[in-house]
Amino acid sequence: MQTTPLTESSLLPLVPAYDSILELAPYQTGKPIEELTREYGISDVVKLASNENPMGCSPRVTLAVTEQLGQLARYPDGNGYYLKQALADFNDVNIDQITLGNGSDDLLDILARSFVGANDAIVYSQYAFVVYSMLAKMQGATDVEVPAHRFGHDLKAMSQAVQDNPNTKIVFIANPNNPTGTQLEHKELRQFVASVPSSVLVVLDEAYIEYSPESNNRALIDEFDNVIIVRTFSKAYGLAGLRVGYALSSVAVADLLNRIRQPFNVSRIGLAAAAAALADQDFIEKTRLMNDEQMRWLEKQFDALGLGFIKSHANFIMVEMDDEDALLINQALLEQGVIVRPLLGYGLPTWLRITVGVAEDNMRLIDTLRSILTDD
Ligand SMILES: Cc1ncc(COP(=O)(O)O)c(C=O)c1O
Repeated sequence: MQTTPLTESSLLPLVPAYDSILELAPYQTGKPIEELTREYGISDVVKLASNENPMGCSPRVTLAVTEQLGQLARYPDGNGYYLKQALADFNDVNIDQITLGNGSDDLLDILARSFVGANDAIVYSQYAFVVYSMLAKMQGATDVEVPAHRFGHDLKAMSQAVQDNPNTKIVFIANPNNPTGTQLEHKELRQFVASVPSSVLVVLDEAYIEYSPESNNRALIDEFDNVIIVRTFSKAYGLAGLRVGYALSSVAVADLLNRIRQPFNVSRIGLAAAAAALADQDFIEKTRLMNDEQMRWLEKQFDALGLGFIKSHANFIMVEMDDEDALLINQALLEQGVIVRPLLGYGLPTWLRITVGVAEDNMRLIDTLRSILTDD
């Protein structure tokens, strides 16, 4: 994968559609377990880097996936009827208010391609999910990054930024936010939506909503036609490997998105697995309880180690490595088989983002971190 900056001359005589495409850096994924095993010969790896569900997924998914195995020669239902019907019931919306995606990243991409052109702007917060700024660059649009307030979205400043940039087409808001774990109050979010012109699409990215049900802003869809909520089966539902996400919006917006998306953007197995996972809300409840309990335990350990952290409403937590270079600590953790996420790319060089694991994984993380910090 290309990691050095691209230059115009390196592609010549080919020329990308927009100069800003040359500024794109490849998305940094959490290191796969297989890669660490290959590089360091460690077989006993703990991955706390991609906000996946360490409990796996609902056992109902296995059955649903097995049932599809005899049908792999057949295309999936391009309309995803059964999954959409289940999501409509679950979210109390009409089926034609739903768009399915190959993960929620696919939906974010479809949104940018549908609404944002080269003369437009995308507004998002500093320290918000990195894909938003990448989409602006991909579309050749202006990316307006609004300084964060205490690591979270500063909605007043974001509203001002929309006013200052009348060509704004989309505002992206992650709630809870990745990587900071911060959450917005419903009241202030509603005020924000009311403050922006109805020609601006407000995208609420609720990838971690199951960990923070109180941040659910589903009601805004009924009130504002320019609000869209994007969710995923990759996090609490434990289906990151299958790539399924969905969007809730007005009928008109869903109609547009459904014209832009690829005809079979969710696989046959993905559709069946997501429907089975959605039906097992007990699993989601167990996931949430485990996450809450382990989050409290981790907070205590970070306190005991004298490490600062940001209160998180999701399944990960951002921890500050004092004045230490978090990249060095990250490297030392990797060498001992623990994968976490450094945040240099977010302009947070002293911070690590750690996904909450099951008790055993978290103990291993803390023991390894303690030994690294006390060895110095
Ligand atoms: C805030 C946020 N939005 C969207 C995504 C994309 O998730 P997926 O494409 O797996 O649904 C992520 C994944 O890390 C995320 O953190």
